[in-house]
Amino acid sequence: MSSFSKIDTAAITHFQGLLGIARVGLDQEILTKHASDETEDLSFPPELVLFVHTAKEISNVLRYCNERTIPVTVRGGGTGLSGGALAIHGGVVLNMQGFNKILNIDEQNLQVLVEPGVITEVLQNAVKEKGLFYPPDPSSKGTCFIGGNVSENSGGPRAVKYGVVKDYVLNLEVVLANGDIIWTGANVLKNATGFNLTQLMVGSEGLLGVITKIVLKLLPYPDKNLLMLVPFPSAELACEAVAKIFQAGYTPSALEFMERDAIEWSLKYSSEPSALPIGDTVQAHLLIEVDGKEEDILMREIEGIAQVLEQMGCDEILFADNEAEKNRLWKLRRSVAEAVKAHSIYKEEDTVVPRAALPQLLNKVKALGKEFGFKSVCYGHAGDGNLHVNIVKGDLTDAQWEQDLPQAIHLLFEYVHALGGTISGEHGIGLVQKEYMSIVFNEVQLNLMRGIKDLFDPKGILNPGKVFPTC
Ligand code: LAC
Ligand code: ZN
Repeated sequence: MSSFSKIDTAAITHFQGLLGIARVGLDQEILTKHASDETEDLSFPPELVLFVHTAKEISNVLRYCNERTIPVTVRGGGTGLSGGALAIHGGVVLNMQGFNKILNIDEQNLQVLVEPGVITEVLQNAVKEKGLFYPPDPSSKGTCFIGGNVSENSGGPRAVKYGVVKDYVLNLEVVLANGDIIWTGANVLKNATGFNLTQLMVGSEGLLGVITKIVLKLLPYPDKNLLMLVPFPSAELACEAVAKIFQAGYTPSALEFMERDAIEWSLKYSSEPSALPIGDTVQAHLLIEVDGKEEDILMREIEGIAQVLEQMGCDEILFADNEAEKNRLWKLRRSVAEAVKAHSIYKEEDTVVPRAALPQLLNKVKALGKEFGFKSVCYGHAGDGNLHVNIVKGDLTDAQWEQDLPQAIHLLFEYVHALGGTISGEHGIGLVQKEYMSIVFNEVQLNLMRGIKDLFDPKGILNPGKVFPTC
């Protein structure tokens, strides 16, 4: 990695010639702004930030960086949770906020052509105005970019019914490391034509190319939904109930799990901490939504789910009976990550297992916590078997945090793998999970991935130091 070139005066002059002086960010304030994302407290300032606006500009930048072996890291909204947008080897960060146009909402084909720097929620609202629906909704939807969502293959609460980002990406315009600009597929709902380059790019975390246009599939907007918050006297019981709901024949549009601390910390963190009564014996909640077009069908569904849960031994269910109440509950759920971050130094794991194995996963987290002396707050997309495990530093010493905790995480990930799961459901591997990759992939598998990387990016300039384990 030491073979990367540093940015020198010639490089700066070159980029200023390509983009104009104003779009080449050199000063400390800009570099510091681009040094971190939402991952822990990491900070890696790049040498230079380029505010790019077109695929052609990116092509020119990459051609130059490729010739000179300068690292290039793409940055979207900066909301990543695995350190994917951090320029750990310095070099150039491409700021994609200039790619902020929704180019075409194709109402006839239910598709949208969008640039990667559009905020996910802005895109969702724009298509909603036409009666259309783009479901993937990461908690950061108000600030994350759709390009980052594609690069990480993001999910969010609705994935349980509607799938994750990969299920919506039909075609991508991509600038390759050598400056070539390609489309990966076609704007069609089925495609049996050659290898699937589109899906190869989805979730590739900026290692294979720079995405500059995205064609997404849309659905008709399901304008009705019902939401309930279901308390449980034990977190394990809440996790056990999850698989039962599906076995009873229901597919909620969201099925979220929150341990007691998750919801309590989120309440405390909230700017409007209006009381949500949480009984003394409550240890966890499920937040469950159903959606569709017919209110009476939804009523039957939510009542059916409630019955299943009552038989499981849940406490008294809170039905959200107006929009304000629904928004409040969703806000609480979506703020958990920020609330934990505000509360303590922490590490966020993104484990995912077959959903019926959720209780075992939760128990293992708690057992490891006892063994290694750490506290954890668990929450996440239980319907997908996707548990966000937040390990808080609390009273742990720096030595315990740096040396013992990785061992505990290693044991947890081995267990997850043995359950048929894996180490990231939606946050990606990036920087902070890469050393654990060899738990879930052997050398044969990793070498296939390394081979793909070499083919796309022989000099390794794109987002170096990510995804692949160093040892
Ligand atoms: C969430 C993010 C952290 O589920 O993935 O809130
Ligand atoms: Zn999540």
